Amino acid sequence: MVHSYLTPNYRRNDLCFSHGEGVWLHAEDGTRYLDALSGIAVNALGHAHPALTQAIREQAGQLLHTSNIFRIGPQESLAQTLCEHSFAEQVYFCNSGAEGNEAAYKVARLWSNQVHAGRKPRLVAAEGGFHGRTIGALTVTANPAYREPFAPLPEVTFVPYGDAQALADAMDDQVAALWLEPLQGEGGVRVPPKGYLARARALCDQHQSLLVFDEVQVGCGRLGTLFGYEGDGVVPDIMVLAKGLGGGVPIGAMLARRSLGELLQPGTHASTFGGNHLACAAGCAVLKELLRPGFLTQVQERGAQLAAGLERLFAGRCRQVRGRGLLWGVALDEAPGPLVAAALQQGLVCGAAGDNVLRLAPPLIISEREVEELLQRLGAALGSLTAGA
Ligand SMILES: Cc1ncc(COP(=O)(O)O)c(C=O)c1O
Repeated sequence: MVHSYLTPNYRRNDLCFSHGEGVWLHAEDGTRYLDALSGIAVNALGHAHPALTQAIREQAGQLLHTSNIFRIGPQESLAQTLCEHSFAEQVYFCNSGAEGNEAAYKVARLWSNQVHAGRKPRLVAAEGGFHGRTIGALTVTANPAYREPFAPLPEVTFVPYGDAQALADAMDDQVAALWLEPLQGEGGVRVPPKGYLARARALCDQHQSLLVFDEVQVGCGRLGTLFGYEGDGVVPDIMVLAKGLGGGVPIGAMLARRSLGELLQPGTHASTFGGNHLACAAGCAVLKELLRPGFLTQVQERGAQLAAGLERLFAGRCRQVRGRGLLWGVALDEAPGPLVAAALQQGLVCGAAGDNVLRLAPPLIISEREVEELLQRLGAALGSLTAGA
């Protein structure tokens, strides 16, 4: 087994896929699977998308990497597109979601130290939030199972997600930044109550604290808007992207207003690979597709279709169906593992989130017929579990 050469930090399924096309994944044994997970919300355009594939091919044939010692054309183009379509004015590129959060953490520290003479040492973040596995990203991630093996970590105040009063109680003038996902992904596809994000914004304004939105999972069209924050109309000071941005090519980004971006002066932060030609060419190709007229409307429509189907399928069998766009969670009474395994038996790849949530995040290009197929396969999986019970 090849596995013995790999560290054992992943609980891997034995399946090995050889290729994909659209929403379909093909296993080495020839079985075809409908991908309703997108490599954990990464393959926004599905597999082997012609435009993305061509952009990567073309870029690979020209130039992969020169380092940030030099100007990088595709990096400048991608930064411009991101800024023209968001609140942001500057972008720092890296290679993953954790690194994007790491950069945001450093900006928050620089902001406290340089702009506020170190008077804002505190950070506030939400229970159930997930921001990545580097020490900085773990610091703002609440889950004790992830944190405790690496203690001691810098102190952060964690508040229950969605509880505006708890947030108000936790905030004060010493808070440099409040870290939130506008909709929690890993924590169980948790949608905040109406008005919560607006209250978070108001509290940050009141205490002169930065509002950081981690949109690693929910950005880049996943929620049916280009960025998750658009759904509630609450604008952050810093936004972190990764996952879907490269459609499968590793890339992360921290976006900010100019006054914050400019804190990253030469010598403060860097990444050898960050924003190289290949990754940014992929990012440009992904954004071009997401910005095509009607693309995001399609995501909303397919999302509504999926949600309605899930409501039907799980009526009386789950606690809640929740989500937005093409990120949906079904809160079950039990751990989702057996259902995920049963779905795989039916040729459907889906995932788990939190303790008891089935997570569905199909490629954003999924068609109406493929959503029906997804629901049919999930129904068969549910049926097989009931029959076996
Ligand atoms: C909201 C959020 N932030 C950060 C991360 C970490 O991203 P990465 O694994 O690319 O470091 C994830 C990964 O699931 C995520 O969902």
